[in-house]
Amino acid sequence: MTDTLKAMIEAALDARARAYAPYSHHPVGAAILTRGGKIYAGCNVENAAYPLGTCAEGGAISAMVMGGDTAIAHVVVIGPSDTPCTPCGGCRQKIREFSPPEGCKVTVCSKDGEVLIETDSLALLPHSFGPENVHAQKEDQSK
Ligand code: THU
Repeated sequence: MTDTLKAMIEAALDARARAYAPYSHHPVGAAILTRGGKIYAGCNVENAAYPLGTCAEGGAISAMVMGGDTAIAHVVVIGPSDTPCTPCGGCRQKIREFSPPEGCKVTVCSKDGEVLIETDSLALLPHSFGPENVHAQKEDQSK
């Protein structure tokens, strides 16, 4: 395992420790490596109005954008059990927004940080809709 992946796993475990998940009791931590080499982390934040809860990946993406970065190279997700906590559909779309055309790496770890799944954003969200699709529409309209 690379030092970078180790650092991402540590960041995701630290983030999970801060999760606010009193309703699901399913704390999640996520870490993003940017294409510039920075690491940002996030945790899930639930709400008494259940649908308003936010996922760990979304929190990490907000931290990344706030830090001035918009280019994801790799995402690590760690849930509270040894059943893989794969990103939900909404998070796959959020990750896709900031991924390069060739996709970004996605690693899902066990509760203790062992790698369970190594995949990528293209496999998680095939035939996806992203920024280029919106720009294509703008170009079509200007013809
Ligand atoms: N959750 C995440 O934070 N990330 C995922 O990839 C899947 C689910 C959160 C949402 C909710 O707070 C809890 O886990 C149970 O669904």
